[in-house]
Amino acid sequence: MRTVSNFPIGAAMRFLPFSDDPELQRLQKHHFDSYTAGNDMKMYNIMPKEGVFDFSVTDAILEYTQENDQRLFGHNLIWHSSTPPWVKEKARENPDWLSSFMKSYISTYVGRYRSFVHGWDVVNEGLRTKGSGYREDSIWYEVLGSRYIEQAFFYAHEADPQAVLFYNDFNIERDLEKFNFMIDMVEDFIERGVPISGIGFQMHIRMDTPNGVIASTLQRAAATGLQIHLSEVDIIFNRHDDTRGGGLQIRTSLTPEMEKAQAQKYYDLAMIYRSVVPSDQQYGITLWGFNDRDTWIRPFFGIQDWPTIYDERLQPKPAFFGLLNGLR
Ligand code: G3I
Repeated sequence: MRTVSNFPIGAAMRFLPFSDDPELQRLQKHHFDSYTAGNDMKMYNIMPKEGVFDFSVTDAILEYTQENDQRLFGHNLIWHSSTPPWVKEKARENPDWLSSFMKSYISTYVGRYRSFVHGWDVVNEGLRTKGSGYREDSIWYEVLGSRYIEQAFFYAHEADPQAVLFYNDFNIERDLEKFNFMIDMVEDFIERGVPISGIGFQMHIRMDTPNGVIASTLQRAAATGLQIHLSEVDIIFNRHDDTRGGGLQIRTSLTPEMEKAQAQKYYDLAMIYRSVVPSDQQYGITLWGFNDRDTWIRPFFGIQDWPTIYDERLQPKPAFFGLLNGLR
């Protein structure tokens, strides 16, 4: 895929199983030229205990991506869900501490990988799950208010002025209230000189997510002039309510007709991205894992589904060829 695409094609991998799996590595090297860490670069792994950075896995990932000439994308700096318990406890005891912690965490982390990590999801999922408004069930919002979002961008930019800095979220391609709130926030940032350089559409979509809605939100987002990243793509047949365990099993097996329809949806998504996002704003398409064996969807929502382009036996599905043709 990397050879047919005009922009980087990535996949999220969890390094520890990945680094022990030669077949997965072979496929990853063959198809992708951008690497996102599925979990390894989140705060709960980078600073599991107070004051102690653990960069060992990220260093190993960096070495791997450099050896294989891949772009390393940093996921993520500030996310309510990857904030380790010790940070939440300490912030509640001493609210003044959180802002200085955020600054030193971002400065040290982004500074260490300055010019090696190409771009970062600076703030992930800072908005409510549904509809408009900031996410309130976040220690960052609770203690610092909405200003933590722009502060994080300033700290990241100061630590690496060349890094491409993203606001990343889910459902913004289909929940128009959420999308509009996000666009207002981003345009306000641009107007006030907050150093944001991109919008990440996670793009965990369903087969029934309308193509027209995806096209119009991507086009409107591109009108900001920022980089647009499809950062966590997968396409499910079933449904979920965005909470852990909140899956609704509608389809229990994968039929050839479903595979064909999914191939078409992957094709459509690539074509929409290529046609509505100007080429100099195409930061790339990243898949959130590329095989159904390792997909996060099954354990997270407790449902069976087939959201990716490779099957459980690491064979390409029709979806793979759909995406490939869409990129071509
Ligand atoms: O590794 C442990 C394992 O030892 C243990 O037995 C098992 C029991 O729960 O947990 C395993 O860790 C899990 C880890 O994924 C690796 O599979 C964690 O519990 C689980 O919380 C973690 O979930 C990840 C989730 O983010 C939270 O960090 C998912 O893999 C990962 O796919 C998901 O990714 C997010 C993006 O970062 C942001 N956008 C949405 C996306 C999907 O939720």
